[in-house]
Amino acid sequence: MDKIVVRGGQPLNGTVRINGMKNAALPIVFASIATGAECIIENIPPVNDVLMALEIIREMGAEVEFVDIFQTTVRINPKNIKPGSSPSDMVRRIRGSIYLAGAELSRFGYTDVALPGGCNFGVRPIDQHEKAFAALGAEVESDDVHVTARAPEGGLCGTSVYFDVVSVGATINAMIAAVRAKGTTVLEHAAREPHIVDVANFLNTCGANIVGAGTETIKIHGVEELHGCECYTIIPDMIEAGTYMAAVAATGGCVRVENIIPKHLDCISSLLRAMGARVDEEDDAVTVTTGRRLKPINVDTRPYPGFPTDMHPQFSALFCTVEGMCEVTENIFTNRFRYIDELRKLGAEIKVNGKTAQIYGGKPLTGATVKAVDLRAGAAMIIAGLAAEGETSITEVESIQRGYSGIVRNFKELGADIEEIEFAKHIFIEED
Ligand code: UD1
Repeated sequence: MDKIVVRGGQPLNGTVRINGMKNAALPIVFASIATGAECIIENIPPVNDVLMALEIIREMGAEVEFVDIFQTTVRINPKNIKPGSSPSDMVRRIRGSIYLAGAELSRFGYTDVALPGGCNFGVRPIDQHEKAFAALGAEVESDDVHVTARAPEGGLCGTSVYFDVVSVGATINAMIAAVRAKGTTVLEHAAREPHIVDVANFLNTCGANIVGAGTETIKIHGVEELHGCECYTIIPDMIEAGTYMAAVAATGGCVRVENIIPKHLDCISSLLRAMGARVDEEDDAVTVTTGRRLKPINVDTRPYPGFPTDMHPQFSALFCTVEGMCEVTENIFTNRFRYIDELRKLGAEIKVNGKTAQIYGGKPLTGATVKAVDLRAGAAMIIAGLAAEGETSITEVESIQRGYSGIVRNFKELGADIEEIEFAKHIFIEED
């Protein structure tokens, strides 16, 4: 897919089924290295970042094989992985590859990995990951391109770590590194996202002893050995679900978002209700219905259970359709407003002042050519395009494919006029 073309104006109606969570799958794939044994993992989302993670561990010597026709269940045998052998060019393409450091350190007492890539939201340091490794006794060195860590003779030792900032990545990496450390490790001021609980559950299924994941204090009682697992199922992707919820709020209609854990979406559901949308919950689904004009609200991003930074661009697109002024404040990352210029190309009126964007919505958006400057920004462009008059072309869609699978097909099935274009095919058709 090279480009997505959306002709806006259709309400969305129907049902969409949500994939496994990308940001849980990434650490779980890398954490499988720490087990040293065969793991079968279900509900793998077929998105490019996760496929890249699987490719990285395959390059390092793991056996990786999809065992179902949908390519969502994978068998990983990391027995023959060589530490420090990760391919730097691939590692630099995804953020989640930083979990290699915790996994290698846990199993081999040594890691050497390139610094990760991922979306450009400004500075994304790894000092809190390094702080945890050092507290466990590792000798840590890093420069602009690499990080290495080596456990002392006798291995890592349980410790207390107080994180200076709430970091999803550092919490998960510290948890993975500490599973085999001697004694107990206590992580304080830990992140509480559902994917942290998912990684802890996966490691516990493989013999680890982690308690308190999902709270701000996590205790990891070190174990001597981990084993593999016959089946671990990754939780559903709350950000993918939230994206479809924001989309139907922007276009009007009625969409059932299924195969989810509604509790993870409490914040999104309550914001949509505050705007005047109807959100009905079932055990594993929510239905969003919007028929009338929505009210403006303000949102500010916080660690879970607050409003997720990964939902802010999609809500900005939604706010462009709401009469009145909505404010979006970004508290987690320093440079996440790069997509605002793209929304402006569609006619959106937005003022940015420091970490707050004021969106003056309700004026019609008009189709234009816009870029998917990062993953969630790309999803925001689709939402804005669905609400705009005329044709919107979205370029640089590889950003979207990093974290969404079947997004064009799903929106089409919900009634959107949307298609994916491949340049090569296009040229061929024209010549024919
Ligand atoms: C993960 C997600 C990303 C999401 C983010 C916040 C993956 C692959 N990515 O990113 O989609 O937007 O969580 O929910 O799961 N920080 C430090 N030092 C550190 C680590 C982080 O200062 O060592 C800061 C960051 O700059 C940021 C904040 O802490 O300001 C939160 O970052 P963090 O939660 O670590 O995000 P990631 O794990 O990179």
